[in-house]
Amino acid sequence: MVVTMARETSADAMYEAMRARLERIVPDVELRQKAELACEINRLKRARNAVILGHNYMEPALFNSIPDYVGDSLELSRQAAATSADIIVFCGVRFMAETAKILNPTKTVLVPSDRAGCSLAASITAAAVRALRQRFPGVPVVTYVNTYADVKAESDVCCTSSNAAAVVESLGVDTVIFVPDEYMARNIARETGRHVIFPTLVSPAEPAAGLDYQLVGWHGRCEVHEQFRAEDVRTIREQFPDVVVLAHPECSPEVVAAADFSGSTTAMVKFVERSSAPRYLLLTECAMGDNVAAANPGKEMLRLCSVRCPHMNQITLEDTLRSLQLTQYVIDIPEEIRVRAARAVERMLAVG
Ligand code: 13P
Ligand code: SF4
Repeated sequence: MVVTMARETSADAMYEAMRARLERIVPDVELRQKAELACEINRLKRARNAVILGHNYMEPALFNSIPDYVGDSLELSRQAAATSADIIVFCGVRFMAETAKILNPTKTVLVPSDRAGCSLAASITAAAVRALRQRFPGVPVVTYVNTYADVKAESDVCCTSSNAAAVVESLGVDTVIFVPDEYMARNIARETGRHVIFPTLVSPAEPAAGLDYQLVGWHGRCEVHEQFRAEDVRTIREQFPDVVVLAHPECSPEVVAAADFSGSTTAMVKFVERSSAPRYLLLTECAMGDNVAAANPGKEMLRLCSVRCPHMNQITLEDTLRSLQLTQYVIDIPEEIRVRAARAVERMLAVG
């Protein structure tokens, strides 16, 4: 999605536009200060021929001011692949910026904080994927995009939360290795009627024969989505009987089953836009609840804000300005890894 304020360089006009959208969400004093910062970023962005991509989890003042495009991992990968800018500033976490670099080797790709990691991406190594391949010879590897480049390089194809089941099905084979998100693997297994196993010991010596499986998973978890419980959904439904519950597929299968809808961050955004229900519970990062609430003033968004992504929250307007001023933090990927990772990402983009 394109953000209209991304070209605004007058602080007064930016403040008014941000106020119109965010006055119920962000205190006025903060809006004034952030409007000035956002204008400075937009000026520098133009001067340096940069494009800013903003993930749906960015805090509302940033999300609604500086990104040229906002969206989920899949949409932003597509924008990254299509851009003609010299510099891509990725307001998201490191693995997302790496995906942009994988698709754009000649461009400078920046992530505004060097602390923007991800518990899923940290849960698996390239060596672990090689060990899985050895243990399950000939079984293709689908890697969730929330992984680092060296892991993608060991994979046949990547997927995001919006195309995971479609990518698995596109392979047209009985058995698939899916890493690293345990809950997403369980959710895909449910959706595609597969039986999933989680090998505890990754050893070529341990025989896979005799096991009943069509999906081989890994015990990675999103530290945010793993915290939601089906019990929370039941309690909230008791308090608000008309609530529509939306859960990201990184939530447990019990939470997804208790929800009314499960989909990627953008799929949730679109669901709320198209629905006429008055009240929603978004089981995902809290800042996205703010952004959806700002875009849908007539609808109430319930959100559980004790659960925050510490990595996404590293990305601020201040750091984004410094990122453009100092050209930091530059994403570098060894070419041999990038080329192999690009094959897996491009194959995903071809699936849709
Ligand atoms: P989306 O691909 O749905 O935007 O999710 C990315 C993510 O990190 C969710 O935690
Ligand atoms: Fe990673 Fe979870 Fe944060 Fe998304 S919300 S970046 S999956 S830790």
